[in-house]
Amino acid sequence: MLMFFEKLKKLKENMLFREIKDRASPQGSRIKLGGREYVNFSSNDYLGLANHPYIINEVKKAIDEYGFGSGASRLLSGGSILHKELENKIAQFKETDSALVFNSGYATNTGIIPAITDKDDIIFSDELNHASIIDGCRLSKAETLIYRHKDLSHLEDIIRGKNAKRKVVITDTVFSMGGDIAPLDAIYNTCKKNKAMLYLDDAHGTGVLGKGRGALSHFNIKPEPWIIQMGTFSKALGSFGAFVAGSRDIIEWIINTARSFVFSTALPSCVIAASIAALELIKNDSELIKKLWENRDRAASDIKDLGYDIMESETPVIPLKTGTVEDTLRISRHLYEKGLFAPAIRPPTIIEPRIRITVTATHTDEDIERLIEALKKVN
Ligand SMILES: Cc1ncc(COP(=O)(O)O)c(C=O)c1O
Repeated sequence: MLMFFEKLKKLKENMLFREIKDRASPQGSRIKLGGREYVNFSSNDYLGLANHPYIINEVKKAIDEYGFGSGASRLLSGGSILHKELENKIAQFKETDSALVFNSGYATNTGIIPAITDKDDIIFSDELNHASIIDGCRLSKAETLIYRHKDLSHLEDIIRGKNAKRKVVITDTVFSMGGDIAPLDAIYNTCKKNKAMLYLDDAHGTGVLGKGRGALSHFNIKPEPWIIQMGTFSKALGSFGAFVAGSRDIIEWIINTARSFVFSTALPSCVIAASIAALELIKNDSELIKKLWENRDRAASDIKDLGYDIMESETPVIPLKTGTVEDTLRISRHLYEKGLFAPAIRPPTIIEPRIRITVTATHTDEDIERLIEALKKVN
């Protein structure tokens, strides 16, 4: 049996050892790392809300009113009336009967997937779904069948004629490492035809697609009782935590059975206040999302013009296909030396190593030009 120091040595030898980067500034398009300022192309703070003055002010007001710690799970006394207000607002935003706040996106997927599936059920999961979905499937008693990435004919092949009490198709809407969008129109039809439920992880779609309302709205699909949507407050909304939106029955079932909800302390009210404020900003300021897409389209087109392969990116997540782990680290280091932070993503997070660039609404023209100039000089 290998000891951990030997395992760590192996990770280092294979250039797969990961280290935490501690920021000495607020999150944003400019951040301080190790005493130096960087233009930040690494965060999921797509709309630049993580340090927005309106949100900060609302958080301060909530601290004055509700204090900080929540002290218990929601089913005890951990939630405040702000939790309920946020849930009502999310249900309205996503056009569903009901919604429920979770402590994180990870807790949402690992809690809900085992709660809505049982041993006589089958889950159909895209091979590039987020790790929290994979872990949720591992915790479920249902059988999980993996279909090739966005490959509808493969999904059709494995779902057709399958005998199961319940079939559930699970997909990311926007794939977090590739920035590509799941073909939800076709997936919706397949689910309908095969009487399957559809579980969507809209973590990177909420606040970004469909005027902020997310992937279903982007595809002009109306929510149905057999569709469950989760999303996070931790990305475009610049806050923390996550939600699930769906029919009243499903949400009540989740409240009663999702272990990561039942057995975990509620988020503090000031965090909830931040999410409420972010939601208001997204609903009332269409310029934010417009700016995000202008920046994204410009960066993606300039990067492609340099000859880089941005894979199937369609969103502000822009991967640069780099080949080997060594090349990926070399390019990321080169950018870092030029004052730009865009992380190297390596196995086991993904199979194909890449630089993951995320563009936000708060990047300036100059920030994007600096990125393009630095990418020109990579050798
Ligand atoms: C697609 C997807 N789902 C779920 C999560 C987990 O969300 P959270 O960071 O709120 O736990 C993430 C974030 O990394 C994600 O990218």
